[in-house]
Amino acid sequence: MTKRTRPLIAGNWKMNGLRQSAVEIEAIVAALRAEPAEADVLICPPATLIAAFADAAEDAIAIGGQDCHALEKGAFTGDISAEMLADAGASHVIIGHSERRQYHQENDSVVAAKLKAAWRAKLHPILCVGETLGERETGATLAIIDRQLDGALADIGSAKLSIAYEPVWAIGTGKTPTLAEIVEVHGHIRRRISSLDASLKETRLLYGGSVNPANAQAILALGDVDGALVGGASLKAADFLAIIRAAGAATV
Ligand code: PGA
Repeated sequence: MTKRTRPLIAGNWKMNGLRQSAVEIEAIVAALRAEPAEADVLICPPATLIAAFADAAEDAIAIGGQDCHALEKGAFTGDISAEMLADAGASHVIIGHSERRQYHQENDSVVAAKLKAAWRAKLHPILCVGETLGERETGATLAIIDRQLDGALADIGSAKLSIAYEPVWAIGTGKTPTLAEIVEVHGHIRRRISSLDASLKETRLLYGGSVNPANAQAILALGDVDGALVGGASLKAADFLAIIRAAGAATV
């Protein structure tokens, strides 16, 4: 199947990695130099590693942040602004990951403010949405996703972003929705964002939650899946490369 857009394979390292982990970036860069990817590749390491990874990534991989503060600067101990991420070498930032929503009480209006911050700093945001297990079991999945999309995307003008559908119950658990369930949610997101603003129709929709080398190709071959947001399996170059290669195999 020919894909509408070039896929985006994004790695979310979460709170993992030390300076020595740059060897993983170097291994990916070397492999992509030898055989170019048929996907855009992004790694979002902890903020402490962004500058070093941006140097090691050359232009083969984009580097992103995992979160940012809504404001540009100020008395917010421990926080990092979108401008600081950009200054360190980031081109992307994950916004509204479920771990931020869960452990840092980020609600839809905080997420909306952080999206605006990303655009202000000229970063490309990856907005995460997804339901908990309880919400899926009560049939509330699509309503929850609508609330998250509407809350984040009210009044965005012509700004560009990517959206990651990440069922909370699939993150780090080894469980994934069925392919039919992914198709249903991605199709729904596509229709919903198109109705919010026609310019959002071409937005890349990523799937995230227990993507690994074994399941990546089947997921990435689905019509409305334009890439993946990968946690655990992005930490090792070999696994992440296998997923990057699966994106190429899924588009032929
Ligand atoms: P996982 O995490 O691939 O380890 O399930 C995905 C994510 O949280 O982005």
